[in-house]
Amino acid sequence: MDNIDFEQIRLPKHVAIIMDGNGRWAQLRGKHRTFGHKAGADAVRRAVTFARQKGIESLTLFAFSSENWKRPPQEVSVLMDLFFTVLKREVKKLHKHNVRLRIIGDKQGFSEKLQQRINDAEQLTAANTALTLNIAANYGGRWDITQAAKQLAAAVQAGKLSSEAITEEMLANELCLAEQPAPDLLIRTGGEHRVSNFLLWQLAYAEFYFADVLWPDFDEQAFARAIADFSCRERRFGLTSEQVQQAILDTDVTSGE
Ligand code: FPP
Repeated sequence: MDNIDFEQIRLPKHVAIIMDGNGRWAQLRGKHRTFGHKAGADAVRRAVTFARQKGIESLTLFAFSSENWKRPPQEVSVLMDLFFTVLKREVKKLHKHNVRLRIIGDKQGFSEKLQQRINDAEQLTAANTALTLNIAANYGGRWDITQAAKQLAAAVQAGKLSSEAITEEMLANELCLAEQPAPDLLIRTGGEHRVSNFLLWQLAYAEFYFADVLWPDFDEQAFARAIADFSCRERRFGLTSEQVQQAILDTDVTSGE
C-alpha cells in the first residue's frame, strides 16, 4: 500500500477495532491460544504507532469484553497478566509520544492492583494530544448504555431532571466515550461479521470494514487498506446521495474553496 497518499485522502477521525483471531492464529501454529494474545499485543503496538503517525485522533481497541470472563480461567488469567505487563511496559513510551490513554469499561471488575495501574496511567497521560487510545476492557455496549441510563435515573430521582426532558444527547453524554467524536470506522479482523456488543450506541453511523486477516497479522498494510476503503465510502447519515453531494457543494461555497 505504498501508493496511498495519506495527505490527500479523507481520514477517519476515530477508528474502533475488534481485534479478533488471536486464538486461531496460535492454534494454526500448534500453540496455545495465549501465545496468540501475546502476539496480539505486538499488533496493538503496531496499530497505535500507525494511527499516531497518520494523524488519526482516536483509536478504540476492544481488548476484553464483559463476556470474556466466561473463557477458561487460565486464558482469563493470562489476559489479565498481559494487560498489567503491557501497561507497565508501554505507558512511558505512550506518554513520550504524546498519547492519551483511557481504559473504558467496568474497571471495578479488575484487581485493586490493576485498577491502580490503570488510574496511574490515565493520570500520567491525561493532557496528551497526539492520539487518544481507548482500550475497552471489561466493556460491553449494553453495559455502557445501562450505566448511562442509571446516571440519568439517579438525576431524576434526585429531582435534578424530569424524565420527559431526557434527550439522546443527555444519554450520549453519560456514555464512556462522551467527549470524543463517534467512531467513523469500525474494523473487525478474523473474518467474522458481527459487532459482538462493542460500542452499540456510538457505532450508529460508523462505516464497517471486515478483514479476514487474524489480529496478530494485522500490520500497517492491512490498516492502510482499511483506511483507503473508508476514504472511498459515501457517508449519508440517513440522507440521500443527492442531498449529501449538495451539502458538500454548499460547504465548499461557504468556506470559499
Ligand atoms: C480475540 O481473539 C482477542 C481477545 C479476546 C483479546 C485481545 C487481546 C489482545 C490483543 C492482547 C493485549 C491487548 C492489550 C490492549 C494489551 P480470540 O481469542 O477471540 O480469537 P479466536 O476468535 O481466534 O478464538
